[in-house]
Amino acid sequence: MTSHDPATMLTIGDFAARAGVTASALRYYESLGLIHAVRTGGNQRRYRRAELRRVAFIRAARSIGLSLEEIKASLDRLPDGRIPDRADWQRLSSSWSRRIEDRIAQLRNLQEELDECIGCGCLSISKCAIYNLADARADEGAGPRLGFKAG
Ligand code: FES
Repeated sequence: MTSHDPATMLTIGDFAARAGVTASALRYYESLGLIHAVRTGGNQRRYRRAELRRVAFIRAARSIGLSLEEIKASLDRLPDGRIPDRADWQRLSSSWSRRIEDRIAQLRNLQEELDECIGCGCLSISKCAIYNLADARADEGAGPRLGFKAG
């Protein structure tokens, strides 16, 4: 048996349970090329166990605010033709320290902005940070700006 033998691979239900995400999230990740599945003769998805690391990477990257596009760009840098090793994953996450510091700074700023709101409840258009938070990304275009968040 090889690592590509469907008999050694995980069904979508087993994979979702082990990865801690929903089956629909897995299908979405696959549609974006973030993870890969092979198909059985009956057209059912089967996942190599190594794909679990890709999902773990996606979840960790999302938790620090990376977009799915950024995650895809990172995952596309993994080697073809072999299962990524620890060094490969370390290389991908090496830039995260700066990203986490930026995120912490953003949250500190947000906390300072929201201090006035605690116990207030006015949602004033002119002065409320909570009210204006909802439209803070309007200059980036219409519609949702933060992307799909799964898992
Ligand atoms: S709720 Fe009153 S300033 Fe935000």
